[in-house]
This record gives sequence, C-alpha cells and structure tokens, in this order.
Amino acid sequence: MENNAKDAQETKGLAGVVAGSTALSQVDGAQGQLRYCGYNIDDLVHGSYEETCYLLLHGQLPTAQQLQQFSEELKQQRAVPQAVLQFIEQNSKQDHPMAVLRTAVSMLSCNNPLTTDNEPQHTQQQAVALIAQISTLIAAIGATRAGRGVVPADPTLDHAANFLTMLQGQPAPAQASHALNVALVLHADHGFNASTFAARAIASTLSDMVSAVTAAVASLKGPLHGGANTAVMHMLQQIGQEDAVEPWLDQALGRRQLIMGFGHRVYKTTDPRVQHLRALSQQWCNANNQANWFAISDKLQQLMMQKKGLYPNVDFYSASLYYALGIEPQMYTPVFALSRVVGWVSHIREQLQDNRIIRPRAQYIGKPARTYVPLQQRESQQQSASLAAA
Ligand code: COA
Repeated sequence: MENNAKDAQETKGLAGVVAGSTALSQVDGAQGQLRYCGYNIDDLVHGSYEETCYLLLHGQLPTAQQLQQFSEELKQQRAVPQAVLQFIEQNSKQDHPMAVLRTAVSMLSCNNPLTTDNEPQHTQQQAVALIAQISTLIAAIGATRAGRGVVPADPTLDHAANFLTMLQGQPAPAQASHALNVALVLHADHGFNASTFAARAIASTLSDMVSAVTAAVASLKGPLHGGANTAVMHMLQQIGQEDAVEPWLDQALGRRQLIMGFGHRVYKTTDPRVQHLRALSQQWCNANNQANWFAISDKLQQLMMQKKGLYPNVDFYSASLYYALGIEPQMYTPVFALSRVVGWVSHIREQLQDNRIIRPRAQYIGKPARTYVPLQQRESQQQSASLAAA
C-alpha cells in the first residue's frame, strides 16, 4: 500500500509515464528537439502545412504530384453542412469560440455514414475531411464574432491563405499566409499531449473519429493546454508596457501565480518551436506598429529565466504573432486546433491500427470497507454515534 501511494504521487498527472508508443512525433525534452516521422521541424517549416499533414497521415513526405493531389483533396472537402453554419452563426457572438467549435465538430457526424465505422480507408477519408472542414468551422466562428458574414472557401488558395481570407473577410497578404503556415506546421503534433491523449482514449473504446476529435477540442480549450495562447495575450495587455514588466512579474510571482506561456511537462530546455515563433513575432510586431507586444514578451522571457529558470513554450510568442496578424485573442486557441487536428486524426488512426482499450488503474485513497446501514436505521445510528462522541 505504501509503495502504491508513493508511485501514484510520483506519477501525478501521469508525469514521466510512458502510456503507449507512437511513430508520429518525437518530443526530445532533453535536447529540445521535435521531429515528425523523423523529420526535424526546423526543416519542415520551410514546407507547407499540407506537406506536414501528408507526412503525418502517410508516414512519408509526398512527391510533388502526391502533394498537389492531396492539397486538391483538402480543397474539395472544405464545405460543411448548412445546419452547422447556422449553429455557428447563432451562437458565436455570445459563446466561447472553443465551446462553439466543440459542438460544431460534434455536429459533423450528423447524416455522415463515414463516421460510424473505423475501417482504415474510411478513417483516412474522414481525417482529410476533418482537417479541411475544421478550417471552415473556425473561420466561420471568427467571421461571425467580428460581425461579418461567412465567406465561401476559395479553391485557388492553399490551406493557410484560404483560412486567413475566410477569417478576415479580405484577401490575405502572401506574407501573412506564410507566417500562419509556419505556425500551423509547428503546432501540428506533439506526442501524447493532453488533447491527443484524450482523442486516443476515446478512439481506444472503438467509438468514432468525430467523437474523439470532439473530445480533443474540449481538452485543448483549457488554459494549461491550448487555452494558454489566449491567456498570454490577456497577460500582455494587462502588463501594458515594457517598463511595467518587472513590477508586474514580481507581484504575480509573489502571489504564486502561474505565468502563462511558460514551463512545459517535457521540455526542460528551449522548446524548439519557440525560436521560429519568436522570429515571426518580432518581424510582424515591428512591421505592424505593434512592437510593444514583442518588447513586453521578450522582457518577460528574460526575467522568467532569471527569476524562475523557466523557458517559454509554444503559446508564448504565438500570442503576439497572432495579434500582429490581426487575429482576435479569443480565436487563438481555435487557430491551435486548426493545426493540431492533423495530429489528432493521425493519432486516432495509429491507435486503431493496434488497439487495446486505454484503461489505467486508480490508487484508492478513500475510506476502508464499511458496513452498509439500511436507510431507516441511519438517523438513530448517527444520533447514538454523536451521543457517544459527546
Ligand atoms: N509559472 C510559474 N510557475 C510555474 C510555471 C509557470 N508557467 N510552470 C511551472 N511552474 C512551477 C510549478 O508551479 C512548479 O513549482 P513547485 O515545484 O514550486 O510546485 C515547478 O515550476 C515545476 O512545474 P512542473 O511540474 O514542471 O509543471 P507541470 O509539468 O505539472 O505543468 C504546465 C506543465 C505547462 C501545465 C505548467 O508549466 C503551466 O501551467 N504553464 C502555464 C500554462 C501554459 O503555458 N500552458 C501551455 C503548455 S504548452
């Protein structure tokens, strides 16, 4: 019993537990490296998000022809049922965008015969459809929140450019699409993070892909996971200016407050995604009269290292980058989902290839075995117990 107690405490939050295997992404926390199917993200950022999607779904890089065919397939799958768009239009103004997205994703299984079986060729089709459709859902949520109508997808545009155009209701400059494309590649997969693990747990019951992705969206919403990027922007806005960073941080640390966008369960050195996002944040903030957000971020990063020895994570510089790209802070976590959906569907397919239900044990820490007292006798027994105690 004592040994069990120690084990459960040491692995709280499943820290350090290897809960399964994957061939999709390798998160090297000691070296600060991230590879998808063996390829370093530092190389993959030079390609398109579509290329990364193909890699994760097929386990190998596409040829030029395969990539073109795959990109076409994605474009053809962008439409979503009218009923889902209506739901988005009716609810996006007042509700949290991740709550709207969660329900909208769930609605994709209505009248969709593909979603009822887990045959590999069907899950492959569903995976491509979900990657394409989630971009339409997220853009529609953002456009509705901004008081604009939902613009149709543009089949001449790639994934990042089409999303930004639909989100912002005007053609996206090529450089903005490029910046978003890099962010999408960097967020695509990341081992057994909380939302991916949730998706795999659902898939392991032989439920269906839409259910598993719905659960993943629910998990990503939390501020300790994908919700951190929105929280980072709110924190930067609260700090307001560069010379307020240190007094703000001292107070926050004094209250033992979590500083959003810092720390990581796996990386105990630099998160390899950060250098790319930092460079883009600097470039975009400076070019768009938003230099303040980058300056605050950089100062905070230096002080967090000095005072707490903590590194920034993927959500830190993405906040100021998305701000400079003109994206509303509440939409940052949906933008995370826009990318991570490929990780979710790839992990769901991997789980199904060699499935065993995910069902860990819990260490029981409640009362020892007790005698059940019939309802009628409980009051008198409680009275005599309190009399005895008095
Ligand atoms: N701000 C202040 N302190 C932090 C911190 C942060 N962002 N992240 C970790 N710490 C502290 C912890 O409180 C803990 O202190 P303690 O030993 O005095 O209790 C210590 O650093 C070690 O934390 P650790 O066990 O490594 O954290 P975790 O693995 O349980 O949690 C996160 C990892 C990411 C959930 C956590 O770092 C966090 O909440 N960060 C902020 C939210 C965020 O940015 N999430 C996005 C993740 S990509």
